[in-house]
Amino acid sequence: MNMYKNLDQTYVLQTYGRNYTSFTHGKNATLFSDKGEDFIDFTSGIGVVSVGHGNEVLSKAIGEQAGKILHISNLYLNKPQALLAKRLSDLAGFDLGVFFANSGAEANEGAIKLARKYGNKKGKNHIITLENSFHGRTLATLRATGQESFHVKDFEPFIDGFSFVKNIDEAIQKADGKTAGIMIELIQGEGGVNPLPKEKVQELALFCQKNDILLIVDEVQTGVYRTGKFLCSQVYEIKPDIITLAKGLGGGVPIGAVLTKHKDIFTIGDHGSTFGGGFLVSRAALSVLDILEKMYKNKQLEEHIKYFNSKLENLVKKFPDLFLVSKGIGFMRGIKCKREVKILIQKAHENKVLALKAGGDTLRFLPPLSISKQEIDEGFKRLELAFS
Ligand SMILES: Cc1ncc(COP(=O)(O)O)c(C=O)c1O
Repeated sequence: MNMYKNLDQTYVLQTYGRNYTSFTHGKNATLFSDKGEDFIDFTSGIGVVSVGHGNEVLSKAIGEQAGKILHISNLYLNKPQALLAKRLSDLAGFDLGVFFANSGAEANEGAIKLARKYGNKKGKNHIITLENSFHGRTLATLRATGQESFHVKDFEPFIDGFSFVKNIDEAIQKADGKTAGIMIELIQGEGGVNPLPKEKVQELALFCQKNDILLIVDEVQTGVYRTGKFLCSQVYEIKPDIITLAKGLGGGVPIGAVLTKHKDIFTIGDHGSTFGGGFLVSRAALSVLDILEKMYKNKQLEEHIKYFNSKLENLVKKFPDLFLVSKGIGFMRGIKCKREVKILIQKAHENKVLALKAGGDTLRFLPPLSISKQEIDEGFKRLELAFS
């Protein structure tokens, strides 16, 4: 057995079903293995590497920051963090305060604490989430995740105060005087790349506003230009009470963020994180936003999304025995499959394309937002070969 595979299997707790291809470096949406092979990356590390692998602007920003200050605790002023918070609020287009965490689950934990503190003052602390949702792997976010398969007995007891419902209509029906917040993903990512209906989401936003219930939108996967705009909430034309971000915000460094309209709920001592929003990740996120904002403004993002999606539609049409329909928004795409997705991913991998699974039956694509047309062409050429 390969020495590193052996080390991994002996010393790393085996919680992932790992593929043992070993990548050494990358350039934009192309990854290179230690065997000298090149792969087209249609996953960006599950929606993380938003500006591509080996991005020179980002790596320069990280290098410069590393040479100055990597970390000083959150007990001192951190200029990049302050600038980043303002930038997030500006890009969202409404006045928001930000708490910085280190991951999506942690950002969601922060959002849950925020909603509970807001609600408990009014005698309510219950959070409603949707069936098929995914909000993370910590004990609270696992419980918030609306899939029974995650609520396994091994991890009991879970924390109280959550329930999940089939859809938005049911959320509106079930919400009562005990409901502090309703938490949704606008496109259920892990659940199968399923966008929620826009009118229903807007109805929910209005309902929450009228009933003093906080609308929490988990944009850990949909946020930071993944769906073509800075926030998917902008695509849906809503202004949620709380928005969480992570994944693409750092372009590969770990950062999470809780954005809220309600700047006065948390006060000193209510929440904290040793690493959250440290110098390095804040500087990196500012650089990521510079790159992505430019791609958004000069329409490259929109153009490449259209290009990718037309290729995806062609693939679906070309293989009617394998595929049913494509779904998703922007660069968050899936294909509902007739065949076992695991096998399709394996075939793609054999032909040097990385793809993902979502839900039970969806082949999922989350390419770097910076992917070039040549890489899109090459990736789909290889997929056609893989599925022929
Ligand atoms: C919508 C959503 N929320 C939360 C998470 C958890 O994020 P993390 O793995 O960074 O904790 C994910 C991860 O896939 C996600 O897609």
